[in-house]
Amino acid sequence: MSSDATTPLEIVRLGHPVLRRVAEAVPEEWFGTGRLASLGEALVRTMLAEDGVGLAAPQVAEPLRLFAYWLPARGDDPGLEPTVVVNPELRFVDPEPEEGWEGCLSIPGLRGLVPRSPRIKVKGRAVSGEPLSFTADGFHARVIQHEYDHLDGVVFLDRMTSVRSLAFEPEWERYVLAEAGPEAEG
Ligand code: NI
Repeated sequence: MSSDATTPLEIVRLGHPVLRRVAEAVPEEWFGTGRLASLGEALVRTMLAEDGVGLAAPQVAEPLRLFAYWLPARGDDPGLEPTVVVNPELRFVDPEPEEGWEGCLSIPGLRGLVPRSPRIKVKGRAVSGEPLSFTADGFHARVIQHEYDHLDGVVFLDRMTSVRSLAFEPEWERYVLAEAGPEAEG
């Protein structure tokens, strides 16, 4: 990991074995340390620099269970500031999946339709160690499920029920965007 506090980290791409590993829980003694805070900041910085809405630690070759995400403001929805969730646990409140478009910074240039639970409960910790507990719906729930999957070595391609919707980004923008909802790239 780069020690420069302003430079985005390198994002590894599909084929790097770290993306297929089950990541390790962040050890209890790391909470509240500069080491964990720096990793969280680096995830946020890199996510924003690469125009993603989420980024999981394995995507920067750190096989640890944490991710960053944010929600851009849309219409009346103010969105959500960049947030880091450590050692997350998900519970599917509404397991009836809905399809939505996703992309991944580790699989650049592709978009695909992915079924996700539209409502989940999330528990985890902040980098400070403070407990986090909240419910996420819709796009929020989708982004978190995408990032959580990275912690288990799973990518969105694995979750697609069919690869028939898979599209390159320029073609997706040209032919699909007009009819599509927001996509989650992370
Ligand atoms: Ni991803």
